[in-house]
Formats: sequence, C-alpha cells, structure tokens
Amino acid sequence: MPRATVIAVATIIGVAGVAGVAGGTAIGLSVSGFSAIPGVFGGSRVSTIGAVDFTNPLSIPPLAASTIDESGRRTFTLTAQTGSTEFIDGSRTPTWGFNGSYLGPTLVAERGERVQINVRNELDEPTTVHWHGMHLPSAMDGGPHQKVESGAEWSPSWTIDQPASTLWYHPHPHGATEDHVARGLAGLFYVTDPLERGLDLPHEYGVDDIPVIVQDVRFDAAGALDRRGGFVGALGDRILVNGTLAPILEVDRSVVRLRLLNASTARVFNFGFDDGRDIVLIGTDGGLLPRPQPLESLPLSPGERAEILVAVTPGETVVLQSRDPQLGAVVPFGGPDGGSDAFDVLQVNAAESLASEGVIPSDLVPIESLREADASAERSFVLDGTEINGRTMDLNRVNDIVILNSTEIWTVTNDMPRPHNFHVHGVQFQVLDQNGAAPPPTLSGWKDTIYLEPNVSYRLIMQFENFSDPNMPYMYHCHLLAHEDAGMMGQFVVVKPGESVGTPGGTVHQH
Ligand code: C2O
Ligand code: CU
Ligand code: CU
Repeated sequence: MPRATVIAVATIIGVAGVAGVAGGTAIGLSVSGFSAIPGVFGGSRVSTIGAVDFTNPLSIPPLAASTIDESGRRTFTLTAQTGSTEFIDGSRTPTWGFNGSYLGPTLVAERGERVQINVRNELDEPTTVHWHGMHLPSAMDGGPHQKVESGAEWSPSWTIDQPASTLWYHPHPHGATEDHVARGLAGLFYVTDPLERGLDLPHEYGVDDIPVIVQDVRFDAAGALDRRGGFVGALGDRILVNGTLAPILEVDRSVVRLRLLNASTARVFNFGFDDGRDIVLIGTDGGLLPRPQPLESLPLSPGERAEILVAVTPGETVVLQSRDPQLGAVVPFGGPDGGSDAFDVLQVNAAESLASEGVIPSDLVPIESLREADASAERSFVLDGTEINGRTMDLNRVNDIVILNSTEIWTVTNDMPRPHNFHVHGVQFQVLDQNGAAPPPTLSGWKDTIYLEPNVSYRLIMQFENFSDPNMPYMYHCHLLAHEDAGMMGQFVVVKPGESVGTPGGTVHQH
C-alpha cells in the first residue's frame, strides 16, 4: 500500500536581481556560473529528490482496440468521459479520460495505413481532439475549428504518411485546452514503419518499449486536482507517470526504451538519472535520430516527446529525475516558473536475471536535411507576454498564408526572461540554429514543438507538403496551455499558388 510521498519544499528568499538561484545546493547539483544572475524571481522551490517512496507499479495505458474494414481502413474509437481516479489510496480525484477515467489508450498505426478515429464526446461541454505531431489535412487536425459538441461524434480520417514516431492526442477547444488536458484528456499515438521495425531496438509494448507520460500535479485537501497557477500556468508539486504516483517500472531486459511525453500543462522538465549515467537519446518529436546521442540531461517542455534507451545491469535500481530545468538556459528562470524545481520521476528496477543481452545500435534512420536554399519565404514570430507578434488569437483571422509544397524558414524568438515554447500543427520541422549557433543534439531531429528558453531565438525550416485548404487553418502556438488559452496562438492556411483564402473554419464560431 502506498505511503504518502514526502514533499520537501525549500523557500528561496526572493531578492530580484541578486539571490535567486542559491537553492541548487539542496539537491547537491552544481549551479556554478549561475550566481548573481539578474532577472531570477523569488518563490517556493519544490524538490522531491530522495523523498519519493516508490511503491506503485507503473500503469501502462492499454493499446487501443481497432477494426480493419475490407478497404484496409483501421478504425479506433475514443470516448471523452468524466470519472474519478484513485491516485492516492482511499481518495478519489475527479478526472476525465478517454475510454476510462484518466488519460487514454495508446493508438498504433502503420505508415501508409488509412485510419479513422470515432471521437465521441460524453462530457457536458464541447471539446476537440487534436493529433499532435500528425501530418494530415487541416480539417482532420482537431484544432479549435473541429468542435465536437456534447453528445456528438466526430470521425476524422486520413492516411498516415510520416516516419515512425511517438505522437500524441489531446483536446484543443478554444480557450479551454488547459482545463481539458489537466483533467486527464491525453494519450499517445505511435506511428510505425518498416525502417523502425527493422532496427535492433526494444519493441515490446509495456515490456521493454515503455510509454512514459509525465505530468506534474498538485492535490488539494479534498484530493481534487489543484490547478491554480501563476504566469506560466499551474505547476504541481508531485509527478504522475501514466497516471501513477511514485511509480516503479520492473524490467527484465537489459536495454529498455522509454518514450517520454511531457504532458504537463506548464512544467518544463530536465530529465537525467540519479547516478549520473547518460541519457541515450534515440528520437525526438517526429521520429528517430540518425544515431543515438548520449546526453547528461534532456530538457523537455510541454508537448515535446523524446525516446531514450536505458541499459541496466541485473538487480540494479536507477531513478529518472528532473533537475533544474533552467540549467543551460541563456537566461535562467526562477521559482514561480518552476526553474529550480527538482523531482524524482520514475524508479526502474532491473530483475536479478535479465532476458537478453540488449544492444544500443550505432545507426538508426537517416534524416535528409531541409536546405535553406530551397526556402521561398521567411517569417518571424516574437513571443512576449501572452502574445505572438503583438497579437492574440482571433478564430476569424488568418495570420499567415503558406503556399503548398513550399519550404519556409520561421524565426521564433522568446523576448522575455521567462519560459515559453512553440508548436506548429501539421508539419515536422528541423532546427537550423539557436541564437545563430548550431543547435544541440536534442534538436538534431524532426520536431513539432520547441522549448524557448528565456531570451532565445531559433530558426526553423519546414516544408508544407500534400495538403491545402483555403478555408481551414492550422494553428501555431505556445504549448504552455494557459498561454495558448490566453490567445498565444495564430492561424495559417496552406493554399495552392494563386488560390484565395476563405473564411477560417467556413463558418463564424461564437464564444
Ligand atoms: Cu499539442 Cu495545438 O497542440
Ligand atoms: Cu499540435
Ligand atoms: Cu508561453
């Protein structure tokens, strides 16, 4: 039976411009180089390092059932519903989920396959379901224009056409995304392909290929989710993995693949292992890397995914942690934004005898670099406050018009000493540079969401292939969901050359 998790909270005395980052020593991490940094805000610092009593077996989301018709179309059903979940023994927390009370099943579909998802809304209010990271027609995207009324069903269909990757799905109702996701509406969507299947990687779902959906939460005295927040939104003081508090993953293979999703609404993590072993990064948002990248730590902001390999020896225990997400930031960010918080996330226990001599392959999949010389348009997006280019979201305004099959360079700048990120619907992009320099290995693959550390600028390159629709926009936005809801979002349509733009969504939505 799980005992209560002990939470250690140290308070940093907030003298803006001076004190700030001191607290790092509490968990024995070096923060040298970060003394006397201006712009660090005071506030509470949360650390659960060494204080989590890992007792609960990690829950693994079920694989979603599907049927295949004569035409080869694979159909899934997702029902958004209300319920309650026993995160803490003897206490029921009101939650929402897909086909269950919290989170949703993992969808798996093969590149080239036609899929249909029957989305049923059994909530008392409208929602949408967005396929985050998917390359698909804008009318199937599940953004704010594809509203599913309470009691209604929506059945988008498309052909999967992108590399094997760890994508996810979550609601995107205009102004209420944070609420719907925080209550528990989120799940994984794996794309498979022959290239990935042919690699010597762990492939057995829930055995050596493990979904790891990480969310920070806070419970109030009654056991309900407490989602009061500050500038970045609500930050929790405990971690759920796949909806499990204080989770243990028992493994009996010598190499394990973890598919990390930061499904938090606001929290930036910086993952690492308690014994300092490398994180072996093999994949980013949109697919596998050309080769594994050993890293000391791995930052992941809301909406980003990463696939990593962990090699274990018989009988050992290793803890996945998140430590000091401000490390490495151009300008560190402070307590109120979670910049110096640290967590024990997941304990991995290796069996006394391990089933296989696993390997870490030296080569994965080639990635063809998009070429700057092919770009026909450049755009610039400056994030400040909760605005992009000085504007907030208007469902009736198309902010940007993109020509079908063109390659574009988007310069995305965080103009504040506080964290944001940037997500683009419908495409995967590559990162050209970070403040003019070569991007780190964590940004060397396909991405659809990028963490914008304070005062940083990235140049992204992307190609808008296959789908155009002058009446139905895609979104780009900050994936800190409180920011998205506050209007830190814009719309672009993809049109054929010479085609004129219609009314976004075809009809005017009232809110
Ligand atoms: Cu995952 Cu527009 O979002
Ligand atoms: Cu998305
Ligand atoms: Cu933001």
